[in-house]
Amino acid sequence: MCSVVGYIGKNKSRDTVLDGLTRLEYRGYDSAGFACIDSETKHLVVAKKIGQLSNLKQSLKNQSSDGFLSLGHTRWATHGAATEQNAHPHVDCTSSLAVVHNGIIENHTSLKKILEHEDHAFKTETDSEVLAHLFEQYTIDEKMPPLQAMQKMVEQLEGAYAFCIISEHYPDSLFIARKGSPLCIGLGEGEMFVGSDPLAFTDKTNRVLFLPEKSYALVHKDGYALYDFSGNVLSVQSQIVDTSWIAGEKGDHEHYMLKEIYEQKHAIDKTVRFFQSIHTTIFDYLGITQEELQNLESITFLGCGTSAHAGKLAQFFFEQKAGIQTRCELASEFRHKTFFKQKNHLYIAISQSGETADTLEAIRLVQEHGQATLALTNVASSTLVRECDGFLLTQAGPEIAVASTKAFSTQLAALYWLAHCVAYHKKSISHKQFQESETELFTTAEILENVIEQYKHEIMMDCAPFYKKYKEFIFIGRHNSFPFAEEAALKLKEISYVFAQAYPAGELKHGPLALVDEFLPVVIFSHPDPVIYQKLLSNAQEIKARKGHIIVFALEHQKELLSLAHRAFIIPAVPSLLFPLAMTGIMQFFCYALAKVSGHAIDKPRNLAKSVTVE
Ligand code: M6R
Repeated sequence: MCSVVGYIGKNKSRDTVLDGLTRLEYRGYDSAGFACIDSETKHLVVAKKIGQLSNLKQSLKNQSSDGFLSLGHTRWATHGAATEQNAHPHVDCTSSLAVVHNGIIENHTSLKKILEHEDHAFKTETDSEVLAHLFEQYTIDEKMPPLQAMQKMVEQLEGAYAFCIISEHYPDSLFIARKGSPLCIGLGEGEMFVGSDPLAFTDKTNRVLFLPEKSYALVHKDGYALYDFSGNVLSVQSQIVDTSWIAGEKGDHEHYMLKEIYEQKHAIDKTVRFFQSIHTTIFDYLGITQEELQNLESITFLGCGTSAHAGKLAQFFFEQKAGIQTRCELASEFRHKTFFKQKNHLYIAISQSGETADTLEAIRLVQEHGQATLALTNVASSTLVRECDGFLLTQAGPEIAVASTKAFSTQLAALYWLAHCVAYHKKSISHKQFQESETELFTTAEILENVIEQYKHEIMMDCAPFYKKYKEFIFIGRHNSFPFAEEAALKLKEISYVFAQAYPAGELKHGPLALVDEFLPVVIFSHPDPVIYQKLLSNAQEIKARKGHIIVFALEHQKELLSLAHRAFIIPAVPSLLFPLAMTGIMQFFCYALAKVSGHAIDKPRNLAKSVTVE
């Protein structure tokens, strides 16, 4: 998604801003830009390039422009194609001020009409350009003081935004505002950094002020002045953020995705141990009291993509272990549905980044109705943590590849632990059973890793080259192996660009079976439960009878199913609720290998972004 970086201070800042953009590069983008008030000429200089950030860096190599006030941006196209013209920063009619923006200005069409009536000439197809002309209109044409202009702007803007403005008329000021999209200030000595994520500047300072929702600020080299949208001065505490959140190196791995697949055992161990360490103080984290937890009757998970799949799998944990009725809603759909207020209910938002716009909006809706919210995220400094009543942190460490791997497995581990924790506090299980669940997680994490080791050579050298020719896959499962099949289909689609569809196995004969022939691989994720297994076996026979090509992930004793398969992967026994977790590593490795033989940009798939900060 788009990233914003800004700087004001004692140093020339071009490299700092480009470094900041580099750190946020993994989120995905299709053009990049830089602007500064040149320290020699005192005029605004803007450079933009489509494609990789390296194109922008290369183009700047031949220019000496640099300054003490600058902005950078990587854009993921929403309004208008990925062209140099549409790339940020955007300038006003006089080319004396520049704006970078994340989010969507929903009323840009009406604002543009008004501004065109005032003779402003627009050069791009973007919604963001209105910001440059609005600031120009107020500060240059109407000669309004800049802070008054900012307030007038935020009063009119609809949608979500985090934006920064620099102007050669105000060389000592950086103007910033946010609503719905994250923005923060890194507090240095005689210099200030701005970023849509603190990762942009955590090599320079770990003191961070997160702008509250609906606020704007004037930033200068020695400090800032912060206001709410009514113009009242705000006083907000800065925080010290954990600087280990700096993107790690790939090491010997060809891709971050591969490194992150291999890191899963360690990440699960770390997550479970972390949860064990906070268990005695768990009510400081959950945002609900012990009594509220004991009375809890139902739970709704909210999330998108992989995080929603973790929620769907966790439904089974909470229903089976804690006896709590649980559902999982896609955050992107939830806010369009009728809201039913429920008693003794908890909403749990699941998000690796904690910045997914759909998830944040869903949580805000829940809060408008006064219901309890808990965040499960991987990023301590995220908006989700700040906005929910309680938060729990997975300990996956930075996940850089767009395709989620260790975030997913640690979410599953965390939710399995939490389901047992709730069951324990509701007195449905003993302390011993709670401890056993922790051991089950450690054992499953080990199995997850061992299975990858066992099959990685075969998958890479044999499977992937063989399956490269197939352009479509079906993934099926039953009970909890169905949401797992959904996750597998998502993984394959996003990194290999091969069409993959997941079905509950029982639904095959209600339609999709018509697709099955020898050219369509069907991947079956088995289940340890004997009844569910028998049903899956029947489905496999139906596929076989139509000459379908079958790939199976099953237990060693599930001989009949294994014998129907053209290719089979044997997974050691674990508790049935954790069987998907045991299959996670090999499923991801299988998808990774297919993408690798096709030569795709695995860590940054086309059209996708790591952190989806627009709805
Ligand atoms: O950061 P989040 O967990 O909220 O992200 C949600 C989805 O965008 C994310 O899981 C996405 O589906 C992944 N790229 C899938 O691998």
